[in-house]
Amino acid sequence: MFLSPRWISLFTSLLVTSIVVAFLSFVPAADSGVLFVAGISSFFSTFFFTYYIVDLLVFREVNQIYVSIQKLKIRDFDISRKSLLRSVNPLKKLNREISNYVSKKEEEIGELKRMEIFRREFLADVSHELKTPIFAAQGFVHTLIDGAIDDPEVAVRFLKKAAKSLDGLDVLVRDLVVLSQVETGDLKMHFDSFNIVEVIKEIFEQLENKANKRNTELVLKPKEKEECFVFGDKQRLSQVLTNLVENAIKYGKDNGKVVLELKIENRNVEISVEDNGPGIPQDQLPRIFERFYRVDKSRSRETGGTGLGLAIVKHILNAHDSVISVTSKIDKGTRFTFHLTKPPKEFA
Ligand SMILES: Nc1ncnc2c1ncn2[C@@H]1O[C@H](COP(=O)(O)OP(=O)(O)OP(=O)(O)O)[C@@H](O)[C@H]1O
Ligand SMILES: [Mg+2]
Repeated sequence: MFLSPRWISLFTSLLVTSIVVAFLSFVPAADSGVLFVAGISSFFSTFFFTYYIVDLLVFREVNQIYVSIQKLKIRDFDISRKSLLRSVNPLKKLNREISNYVSKKEEEIGELKRMEIFRREFLADVSHELKTPIFAAQGFVHTLIDGAIDDPEVAVRFLKKAAKSLDGLDVLVRDLVVLSQVETGDLKMHFDSFNIVEVIKEIFEQLENKANKRNTELVLKPKEKEECFVFGDKQRLSQVLTNLVENAIKYGKDNGKVVLELKIENRNVEISVEDNGPGIPQDQLPRIFERFYRVDKSRSRETGGTGLGLAIVKHILNAHDSVISVTSKIDKGTRFTFHLTKPPKEFA
């Protein structure tokens, strides 16, 4: 019902007038003239008094609060002035809207606080990771300047170590650039149809040396498969597979086995990389996709890992609408799985 201050005042004054007239009609001395004057005066006095109270003390204040809110340009505050002023109890409505707004804002503030903690931790991690190779290279170069350069054998050894640290730094910075590009969406994906078996064979060739050093066998399943076309960014998916196979070699066991399996079901291709290494403890499984997270810190550092590989893998696969999952059993091995789709008809 439409309730404005005017209508409220009219109802109240009519009510008061009828009560006053009804009472006075029982008084013998009150004739119709008295009843008329009493009725008229109680009607107008009640009307203006109520109008003043309701309009000035409630509606105008509510209006004022509304105007202030509008001035703040709070977009989320989506209550309209008309609906507010038309409501039976504008204060209650305003109160409800403000509480909704406050709880929405509280959620946003919570999210911002979480992001802030995340940003701080990330900055601390990045500076720590950068510091390690820089300090190492710096140490070797200064030792050389301080005299080690005079002994050619020592000089070459130290230069090689300094170069290794700087190579590590280069890998780290490149990974960080890729990670930030995928996260901000600046890294454009070039989707196309390509033969993933070819890519896998290339990766196996590239990683052959690393695998041989640990006497690890690299196996593609099914063996006879020569062709499997998928749809995605070839270069980025090759980066994904390289990291997964490289991890399986690095964190697997000596004389181990890494199996890359393709399972094709209709338009879906399931790709898994499995090793028979020491595995990852269950409680750490969800964390390995976090930036800089390493299960075995010393082993990972020793093998030159930055701890960014799986974070990049996760983002690249997200951009392909795919999710990577991992299962692992201690002393049995680890298996990473994700899905890709076959190329759409126009690309086939
Ligand atoms: N197949 C695996 N078996 C056991 N642990 C693994 C395996 N793959 C990854 N991990 C653990 O997960 C951590 C994160 O892997 P990720 O690929 O992100 O980093 P990294 O290999 O250490 O460094 P990067 O890939 O940047 O060179 C590794 O440090 C390792 O502890
Ligand atoms: Mg890795």
